[in-house]
Amino acid sequence: MTTAPADLSALIDGLVRDVEDFPKAGVTFKDITPLLDDHAAFTQVVQALAAAGRDASGQVVVDKVVGMEARGFILAAPVALALGVGFVPVRKPGKLPWETRSVDYDLEYGQETLQMHTDALTEGDRVLVIDDVLATGGTAAATATLVQQGGGVLHGLAVLMELSFLPGRAAIGDLPLTVLHVV
Ligand code: PRP
Ligand code: MG
Repeated sequence: MTTAPADLSALIDGLVRDVEDFPKAGVTFKDITPLLDDHAAFTQVVQALAAAGRDASGQVVVDKVVGMEARGFILAAPVALALGVGFVPVRKPGKLPWETRSVDYDLEYGQETLQMHTDALTEGDRVLVIDDVLATGGTAAATATLVQQGGGVLHGLAVLMELSFLPGRAAIGDLPLTVLHVV
């Protein structure tokens, strides 16, 4: 796993707001809007996530960035621009207009589905997956499956935050992981 410098982690920590009992009682929501509202911090975060798509010499080594609705879009699209590659959205059911493939995954209570367009990737595309939070890993694991079913080659997953008290890391198996801030 790759981690960001301690000063970036501290910067993120200072700009992510804990909101108790949202969206339901007992849950502490990690609100990233103060971070997004800070141009310098947002820029640093995008650059640090984009570094996961470069080799040691700075060469871009991915062909696509995949981001998951909704908060993943906010980070993944600027990362794709920073790397000079295309952005592919993974969406919740019924949102994508073209032919899709779907993957179901389990939530604590019930099931969720994510979809990707069948023509979003070209066979062999190297893919960097970007999201805001790795929690149980369900979202990331389902997205990884969609990428593989779509012919992509997983380069890695990069997230702003990992909730280390949840088993996200185990859920993504050996997918290389970049984390900017561990909670
Ligand atoms: C949140 C978060 C991650 C996911 C992480 O998304 O943005 O995508 O949960 O949780 P997991 O590792 O347990 O899957 P959510 O589906 O709540 O919705 P949003 O991004 O649309 O706000
Ligand atoms: Mg999300």
